[in-house]
Amino acid sequence: MSDETPSAKLWAGRFTEPTDALVERFTESVSFDHRLAKHDIRGSIAHATMLAEVGVLSPGDRDAIIRGLEGILADIEAGGFEWRTSLEDVHMNVESVLTDRIGDAGKRLHTARSRNDQVATGVRLLVREALDDIVGSVRALQDVILSIAEREAETVLPGCTHLQPAQPITFGHHVLAWFEMLERDAERFIECRARVNRMPLGAAALAGTPYPIDRSITARLLEFEGLCENSMDAVSDRDFAIEFVSDCALVMMHLSRMSEELVLWVSAPFAFVELGDAYCTGSSIMPQKKNPDVPELVRGKSARVIGHLSALLVLMKGQPLAYNRDNQEDKEPLFDTIDTVTDCLRVFAGMLRTLECRRDRMHEAARLGYMTATDLADYLVRRAVPFRDAHEAVGRAVRGAVETGRDLSEMTLEELRSFSPVIEADVFEVLTLEGSVAARDHPGGTAPGRVRAAVARARERFDSG
Ligand code: ARG
Repeated sequence: MSDETPSAKLWAGRFTEPTDALVERFTESVSFDHRLAKHDIRGSIAHATMLAEVGVLSPGDRDAIIRGLEGILADIEAGGFEWRTSLEDVHMNVESVLTDRIGDAGKRLHTARSRNDQVATGVRLLVREALDDIVGSVRALQDVILSIAEREAETVLPGCTHLQPAQPITFGHHVLAWFEMLERDAERFIECRARVNRMPLGAAALAGTPYPIDRSITARLLEFEGLCENSMDAVSDRDFAIEFVSDCALVMMHLSRMSEELVLWVSAPFAFVELGDAYCTGSSIMPQKKNPDVPELVRGKSARVIGHLSALLVLMKGQPLAYNRDNQEDKEPLFDTIDTVTDCLRVFAGMLRTLECRRDRMHEAARLGYMTATDLADYLVRRAVPFRDAHEAVGRAVRGAVETGRDLSEMTLEELRSFSPVIEADVFEVLTLEGSVAARDHPGGTAPGRVRAAVARARERFDSG
């Protein structure tokens, strides 16, 4: 980035005094919007192609523009392009160098467009690409989760409500809940894509353009599915970016919840799972520590994205039609959202590949939680005891077990019958953890067979989608 060689501003004609140095730094965006270069150039090539097709630009000028832009893109990608803050933004940097290189043809590129429809187009192309990439990363993470679910379909651990042990569940079932969260996230991105994928180009500054443009040509070249229908809305709408960031905030919220569970599960009092050394860090003072920094950071980074969503909503809420320079502030939150979500999804998939369950610890915790109490109540109900009475009888049984430091399954038949005479020897089948999870045998239930079936169904959906 350079601002030592002030370049003539493309809009200098109307002005007699140079821009104040602080104002130049304050208003420039090229230091961050150079990230749009690839999309900006793609949009310009499509625009020039369309202008030539409708006869506004000569084929010679079109060819010179396209070759010039391709050369600039190659230089940018090779790191050999000098960005100038004095040229304000990515659009004017590219156009100015194009004109330096090819002369007057470069000056004709901006016919029938404005930076307002140009930037809106570039941002949409960038979001579309990021969105497809993020959906790919969500799918990759879901794939790792399916492998864990399959491997741990029979692994019993306490299922909690209020973070209190409630009923036994299988670990496979637990992580399939994560899978479902991510499934909705992917669905949302795909639905959002249709609204991102509409073309602003042709709106020009705000009112359209008197040239005989053909927007369908540019839309086809840029693979847009539709046109922004109103020129004023086209240049000012950033709903598509807000919706995308909102979908990102939801993924981050989900990753944060998963992170919270991992942080708990690796902590010594739980010790339910272990994460690979490559995904943990040590303490500079306490040699025994292996800290779950990765899930902690993912949980922390969710705050950034939620903040970016809020920033974009506030950015837009006071803006009258049509384009306002405020919109330049959409880029940094948007770019940081893309980078944060992408990194978090990737690091999470890598981390989960290293996850190992301590099945003995999970089983022990489940055994100590009196979690088959509901199963005992259901057993009584099957023997015609009204549910409320069953609940009461089992509550007394649990109290008895707690007082003698035992699990329900460790009480004798006589002891159990003292709480309800309908109890028979077969009660011990429902008091085991394995019996309890196996009994929840319906679609969406925690029984190992259902977990395996859910994994198979999800894999089929993946393969056909
Ligand atoms: N850098 C500007 C942005 O990001 C480009 C559009 C500027 N348009 C204008 N009329 N000043 O919004």
